[in-house]
Amino acid sequence: MPLLSATLERVQPSPTIAVTQKARELRDAGRDVIGLGAGEPDFDTPEHIREAGIQAIRDGHTRYTAPDGIPELKQAVCAKFARDNGLTYVPSQISVGTGGKQVLYNALMATLNVGDEVVIPTPYWVSYPDMVRLAGGTPVLAPTSIETGFRLTPETLEAAITPATKWFIFNSPSNPTGAGYSWNELKALTDVLLRHPHVWILSDDMYEHLAYDDFRFCTPAQVEPELYNRTLTVNGVSKAYCMTGWRIGYAGGPQPLIAAMRTVQSQSTSNPCSISQWAAVAALNGPHDFIAENNVAFKRRRDLVVSMLNEAPGLACPTPDGAFYVYPSIAGCLGKTSPGKTEITNDEAFATALLEEQGVAVVFGAAFGLSPHFRVSYATSDEALREACSRIRMFCESLS
Ligand SMILES: Cc1ncc(COP(=O)(O)O)c(C=O)c1O
Repeated sequence: MPLLSATLERVQPSPTIAVTQKARELRDAGRDVIGLGAGEPDFDTPEHIREAGIQAIRDGHTRYTAPDGIPELKQAVCAKFARDNGLTYVPSQISVGTGGKQVLYNALMATLNVGDEVVIPTPYWVSYPDMVRLAGGTPVLAPTSIETGFRLTPETLEAAITPATKWFIFNSPSNPTGAGYSWNELKALTDVLLRHPHVWILSDDMYEHLAYDDFRFCTPAQVEPELYNRTLTVNGVSKAYCMTGWRIGYAGGPQPLIAAMRTVQSQSTSNPCSISQWAAVAALNGPHDFIAENNVAFKRRRDLVVSMLNEAPGLACPTPDGAFYVYPSIAGCLGKTSPGKTEITNDEAFATALLEEQGVAVVFGAAFGLSPHFRVSYATSDEALREACSRIRMFCESLS
């Protein structure tokens, strides 16, 4: 009897974590490597949030909590949804988990049966298709392209929906492209969803607060209130509050779904970390000015990276609306050969040669389901970004 389950054969380990790990190993071995793979801010968790965590320990908040969150945090989440998104939820409609990742996983585990389909716009955050497979469902990839600004068109969404569709996963601003949907663009998609009442909407709003220029964030249940009863709105403190390691995410949605997610969670992690939950209360209820300050740095870095990458021969880098990623095309580099004799047949070859020959770690586009591209995370210092982008340019110049 094989040790490993058949389910595991359908999934891969996260390629973004693999790239980060590879860069770390090379660095430990003495190589000069700049990692642009990790999807986390380089800023520390703000002081008042860290203090709240320390205070929680001092106050003895160190025991098991309710499986899907302490009442204080659920209240803070309700207030956040009302304040930022115009969405009204009561605490029994809120689920708090160990990161947005676990909240998404709980939702899929709680709802998917074999044969159920989940529509995922492509390129996608690496975990969506594998989580769907782990939960027994079938991912249905709905393509976008650089020409549509990496945004899903209503026609493509319509074509992807079948009688077996259970969920549509929506992510704006997007990981990996940074593309955000305006109110009207999202309305065009919610109009399609109104015509398919059997489809549930899973909106992953993790990058809500990381929005630049005149982009205004909006979320499906807000744009189309008729979808409120079949939407799970997922968010978390990891990105905007610089709290990736604290592991707190949350969602608002219909009570029966939230109750089912609670069952999954109570039989897996029991509850999210008690100390982190108190820190998240401080984050959501506390001052938010640091987000705008951080965004000044993120926007400056985005502009730096976009302009430097567009100077590299063979690359084309659109300017994203939000998050901290860019997703340039390498179409102009395909078919060339690097000085280290790697033939650039695809984006994986490009990323591998770039790491080996110039010491820059990026994640190749195939990992996100759209080639030929790569993803740069610009959540690192201006200095490192400047150096990394000039190495990428040198690499592209060196291709023949
Ligand atoms: C689109 C998206 N959703 C969800 C998550 C999960 O965030 P966390 O589990 O750290 O809260 C991430 C993290 O990279 C993400 O990029």
